[in-house]
Amino acid sequence: MARFLIVFGIFGFIFQVHCSNQYDNYTLVRLHPTSTVELDLVRSFQDPSKEVSVLKESRGVNDTLDILVPPNKLKFVHDFANATGITLEVKNRNYGRTLESEYQRLPRRRVLRGFNLYGYNSFGDIQGYIEELANKYPSLVRLQDLGKSFEGRKMKLVKISSQPEANNPIIFVDAGIHSREWVAPAMAMYLINRLATDSDAMQIGGILDGVDWYILPVVNPDGYEYSRSSSNKRLWRKTRSKTSNSRCYGVDGNRNYGFKWAVSGVSSDPCHAETFAGSKAFSEPETRMVSSVMMDNRQRIKLYVSLHAYGQYLVYPWGYTGDYLPKQWKKLDSMAKGVSVAVQRAGGKPFKVMSAGKWYPAAGGSDDFAFGAAGIPYSYTMELTEGYEFTYPENLLSKVMPQFYEGFKEFGKRIKKEFGR
Ligand code: ARG
Ligand code: ZN
Repeated sequence: MARFLIVFGIFGFIFQVHCSNQYDNYTLVRLHPTSTVELDLVRSFQDPSKEVSVLKESRGVNDTLDILVPPNKLKFVHDFANATGITLEVKNRNYGRTLESEYQRLPRRRVLRGFNLYGYNSFGDIQGYIEELANKYPSLVRLQDLGKSFEGRKMKLVKISSQPEANNPIIFVDAGIHSREWVAPAMAMYLINRLATDSDAMQIGGILDGVDWYILPVVNPDGYEYSRSSSNKRLWRKTRSKTSNSRCYGVDGNRNYGFKWAVSGVSSDPCHAETFAGSKAFSEPETRMVSSVMMDNRQRIKLYVSLHAYGQYLVYPWGYTGDYLPKQWKKLDSMAKGVSVAVQRAGGKPFKVMSAGKWYPAAGGSDDFAFGAAGIPYSYTMELTEGYEFTYPENLLSKVMPQFYEGFKEFGKRIKKEFGR
């Protein structure tokens, strides 16, 4: 008996190391609603009791909804599609294997690897690189200590300005509040690199001429490192804080901001993996730090962009409701469309432009706080990339990031034109 247990135990161990992923045999399903009735039906998957996770919401008729379905729910989902007539597309039959193979491709010895501009870097390498830039270009790149994440990682705001004393309008960009959206910090780092090293950035008419850029590349470093720690953790979205009276970890940072907090699109269950809004507004040190950057500079910040993934959307307030738009919505809409055209001209895909709440209402987002509480006149959430869900291939970054950069140039031009002296 003892020998049997030992053999069995060794087998179990080998099996775990080599074959098992939490998402083994999970199916990635894409649903195609073609009417408002079908839209309401597919949106019912948002209900946690359905036990499937929504990876991407549908913005309306003819926009898809992506769900990740555990093996024991697959029949239910197929029956649902048959009964309603909604088109169902099986995108991937074993999502665990996809996550596992992506993870295998991440270099193991990350410490020795150093920063790679066209790659997914560790938080440590990201910190190292911004410090290197600040040392190399001290009059152009400055770092401001914001404080520490829940687990104690140091958060540094990167300020890039060719005329720091000029009181130029500021563009504030953050990324990585949702840890699994790796392409967002990668894009923030690419933006930092181009701003700091392009020879024409400082010239007249360049991207730094008359506009200052503040960038926080990883808002949620604890979640980011957690999502890098194993393929089983790859889809972690929230922070890594612990509410004393729950056994579950993490808060959705983009439901935690103190403007119309928790009025829509949130979960009050700390064990819900996606949208727990926190025990109160600004329960998380990370969202408090971002909000103080906004509040401390509210007179000068004219544009705020929060980078996320995925789906190629560029959305503006309000996010907490789809029932009405801010009175300035046309300006928000036309700037976004201008940026979309610029990205398209560079060979990229256009953005779907609309208010966040018309896509799907969700309160407590940083975009609404920037616009509604800090009074920042232009505020956006940018969902980068389309295809590959959260596991956007590293080798495609060198193609898409320069395209997105053209969008940032357009943002810069428009902000200078409207607010520069
Ligand atoms: N994917 C983002 C999220 O779920 C979209 C946020 C849009 N903004 C908003 N306030 N709802 O957080
Ligand atoms: Zn996100």
